[in-house]
Amino acid sequence: MKTLSQRIEIYRPTWVEINHRHLQHNLSKLRQQLSSKVKILAVVKANAYGHGLVEVSKTLTRLENLYLGVTSLEEAIQLQEVKIQAPILILGNIFPFSNLAEAIQRKIRLTVASREAALQIDRIAKKLNQKVYCHAKIDTGMNRIGVRSQNSFEFIQRILEYPTLKLEGVYTHFADSAENREFTRKQWKLFSQLIFDLKKQGVSIPYSHCANSSALLKYPHTHLTMVRPGISLYGVSPIPRPPISLKPILSWKSKIIFLKVVPSKTPVSYAGTFVTRRRTKIATAAFGYADGFRRDLSNQGEVLVRGKRVPVIGRVTMDMTMLDVTDLEEVRVGDEVVILGSQEKMSISVQEVANLCQTSPYEIFCGISARVPRIHLS
Ligand SMILES: Cc1ncc(COP(=O)(O)O)c(C=O)c1O
Repeated sequence: MKTLSQRIEIYRPTWVEINHRHLQHNLSKLRQQLSSKVKILAVVKANAYGHGLVEVSKTLTRLENLYLGVTSLEEAIQLQEVKIQAPILILGNIFPFSNLAEAIQRKIRLTVASREAALQIDRIAKKLNQKVYCHAKIDTGMNRIGVRSQNSFEFIQRILEYPTLKLEGVYTHFADSAENREFTRKQWKLFSQLIFDLKKQGVSIPYSHCANSSALLKYPHTHLTMVRPGISLYGVSPIPRPPISLKPILSWKSKIIFLKVVPSKTPVSYAGTFVTRRRTKIATAAFGYADGFRRDLSNQGEVLVRGKRVPVIGRVTMDMTMLDVTDLEEVRVGDEVVILGSQEKMSISVQEVANLCQTSPYEIFCGISARVPRIHLS
């Protein structure tokens, strides 16, 4: 049987595989954590964290009647162009306001993060004779976008005065729900107080939401009427010991394209930061930092070849990376290299790679560059 990269036209052997069965598994596990009344807004922004916006969204919307959260009008349009019918919310601040007409005509849900934005949405919606579904963004401590919580009640009242704005949601974002319980508690207190005050005044807003993946998994009381998981859908838990088993959906693979044996004391790659200490078999693989394999992994990272871990030696270069394969019994040009994912009984997690690079799994995923083809396995 032909291997995957033989079946699909990949000329340069570096690719990502997305396992949609695992995506389905993750969605159903997350769903089990929620009351049936809680709506999921799947965060598919940034090309679904590098996994493929359209394909991931198609699978998710086929499985459940959910909302999709994107970063930009570009992403929302991409989804509409493939006829995805789910409601789409742009999580970012709409800027510049000249984008508004297009977004409103396309009936995309908008985040209203300031009084100015509310005014501009109303102005343009009036001109277009349209109504706009909006979600008000409240800043409870992230200090990114949104109206500060002390002004949030008046802000909501102001939005309600615009006949063009249909306030469908109110939301906030946790700054450190994975690690900082105390800070999260403070944010929750501010947000839940607002929800309480609105209810008391008879203001009914269909969706209130604040839970990202870590809050969804760790703090069930924050689920409210909508949750916004991102990383957990992609199979990575932002907290240790999550209550459910998640399955990574992304594997990143490449191939050995060159082999050579060099004597001891041979420098390898730019600036000779690695010098062999024995007769060494070097495999050159077809991935580099232009694919998103970070230079921090020079002389540090490991990958899988023939079911074994092998070290990266020397500096990672733009398109190629050298591996010490001396200890492998057999190795050939064309052998598969697993950068992220499993091979035989071994696996390399995105968390492990992120730790080596002193960053987060989010950044490693988003850093896998556009030139790496994503292959979707259903
Ligand atoms: C506003 C908003 N909500 C939800 C999420 C999803 O967070 P996570 O991927 O940690 O679940 C993000 C991601 O950064 C976000 O910016």
